[in-house]
Amino acid sequence: MADREAPIGVFDSGIGGLTVAREIMRQIPNERIVYFGDTARVPYGSKSRDTIVKYSRQIIRFLMTQKVKAIVVACNTASAVALEEIRTELDIPVIGVIKAGARTAVSATRNKKIGIIATETTINSGVYTHVIEALSPGISVVGKACPLFVPLVEEGTFLKDPITEEIASRYLEGLKKEQIDTLILGCTHYPLIRSLIGRVMGAYVTLVNPAYETALELKALLFEEKLCRAEGSGLQEGLHTFYVSDATEKFQQFAESILPCSVRNTSQINIEEY
Ligand code: DGL
Repeated sequence: MADREAPIGVFDSGIGGLTVAREIMRQIPNERIVYFGDTARVPYGSKSRDTIVKYSRQIIRFLMTQKVKAIVVACNTASAVALEEIRTELDIPVIGVIKAGARTAVSATRNKKIGIIATETTINSGVYTHVIEALSPGISVVGKACPLFVPLVEEGTFLKDPITEEIASRYLEGLKKEQIDTLILGCTHYPLIRSLIGRVMGAYVTLVNPAYETALELKALLFEEKLCRAEGSGLQEGLHTFYVSDATEKFQQFAESILPCSVRNTSQINIEEY
């Protein structure tokens, strides 16, 4: 019988998954999170499926040592190419971010034209298109890989730079011509440049951040599986723990700027050992 007091494992290739962790903290504040950011091996978005499956398995083995009760794959790329395979290998619930994003976009679109921006691997997998078509046949879906967004976000200092504006304008030019009215931010790093993307796309386009719906899905799942942490378990300091595969300082600084909690308890681990 799974321990209701156990934490939830959340992982991403780097800092992007913190946008999902933030949403989980907002919507289910009683739950504990163990976050892993694979900062030494980011980006995943240009890597092969086999490599991403191998990395995801290593991270899951590590998270299992933390006795997690459920896992959130807070990375679209890993959700796109590794989720179905790793799910069959685990006896705890595992959710990704893609179905949640697709569902939200399907209910948001008015003209039935949805755009997706994501990493190359996610776009090439075609997963978003398949899920959207299964949910609502007749919706047209157009994808665009934006590989430079991830290093720009990870770097941090270029978030408000004209260089990032210029890159965003070039990437999104084609999507604007497609007259989509809904755009899925299909990479967990992209909500960190949401206002820039919104400015480039214009007010007519609804931006969908799958993090919100993912947190709702997790909440419902914990409830169904009777895995919710007991009310009043307390939100003491140090409730959440953070692990990275590279130096902790930059991660900590960034995480402190977007999360509503202390990130002092961040440790570096050698993920290759798992
Ligand atoms: N943040 C990840 C995603 O949602 C991957 C970014 C990357 O490592 O390329 O796809």
